[in-house]
Amino acid sequence: KTQIFDIQNLDAKGLKLLEIPAALIRKGENVVFPTETVYGLGANALDPEAVKKIFVAKGRPEDNPLIIHVSELSQVDALVAVIPEKAKKLMDAFWPGPLTIIMEKSAVVPEAVTAGLNTVAVRFPSHDIARAFIKLAGCPVAAPSANLSGRPSPTEGKHVLEDLDGRVAAIILSADGELGLESTVIDMTLDPPVVLRPGDVTVAELREVLGEVLVAASITKNTSTDKVKSPGMKYTHYSPKGELVVVKGNPDQIREKITQAVAHYHGKPMTIGILASDETMESYHTGVIISLGSRDDPKEMAKNLFSRLRTFDELGVEKIYAEDIPLNNETLALLNRLYKAAGYTFI
Ligand code: TXA
Ligand code: MG
Repeated sequence: KTQIFDIQNLDAKGLKLLEIPAALIRKGENVVFPTETVYGLGANALDPEAVKKIFVAKGRPEDNPLIIHVSELSQVDALVAVIPEKAKKLMDAFWPGPLTIIMEKSAVVPEAVTAGLNTVAVRFPSHDIARAFIKLAGCPVAAPSANLSGRPSPTEGKHVLEDLDGRVAAIILSADGELGLESTVIDMTLDPPVVLRPGDVTVAELREVLGEVLVAASITKNTSTDKVKSPGMKYTHYSPKGELVVVKGNPDQIREKITQAVAHYHGKPMTIGILASDETMESYHTGVIISLGSRDDPKEMAKNLFSRLRTFDELGVEKIYAEDIPLNNETLALLNRLYKAAGYTFI
């Protein structure tokens, strides 16, 4: 049975409660905890048996490596062979926060965490409860997003309960993360460094600190036939139960295509969904019409994406048409998740 801890504040009572799941981590159990991006499914990163339980709980393929979370900078030294100068600059600029840095691993990091790679992904989250939890646990915490493999990442406590209640020792519920998409992942073992997954820390911000930075082609394209750099790139991701397609074109073309597609299902016993924006949702009249937020606020749209996809599921939507939006530095992370969720199906 999963123990649930609702911790809103790090007052004396909150800290005392937090000691229970922290002790479970030390005992080799799995505990879900909040972060500023999405909820994480944690285990003691230095305990291979505890780490293996994560893969079972999520149904995650074992060749997809995990991020190790720390609560202070000094913990990083033990996990990596060497911290490159440029990686130090990133830590100064963006930690604690939603940036994951890949470096060469040290011998103490178990293969179960890195899926046999000689590199390790490290992140220092900014969420106060995440930091206090890792600190109390007294060890670095390996954690993927706390969803069942293939499902949208959990941005709200109810998503975690849906996916993992009964599959982990404990779940810490708290105020929902403010970002809603997973951290930016950058590979610092390559020169120039390569962004493997876009997130709230944008490519432009990374370039301000590092100079030249490359972006993996797989971020906006289906590269499943290319050599896979980040093992996580090759799996189905973030998918709602309904079939999701992204509708491309200029705003008029998009509206026209969706209107026609929806009309095509008229009278058929199938529930159709439309993922629109505050600005466009009134141009549709049929189906389950949900706004992702305002087009003037890509961060708001990013924050809402995973929870909106789950809302379509709750409403039994079988086919979802999502409006495409222009690709730029601010929308890259959102479009990366949307395209992957759609399995790169476009009309
Ligand atoms: O915001 C986040 O990063 C959340 C929260 C919980 O911290 N975590 C998260 O973990 O999104 P996960 O496991 O869902 O995504 C980790 C990504 C995967 O795509 C994985 O393949 C990649 O990072 N990754 C991990 N270690 C790697 C490594 N050594 N080399 C290349 N990619 C790596
Ligand atoms: Mg994930």
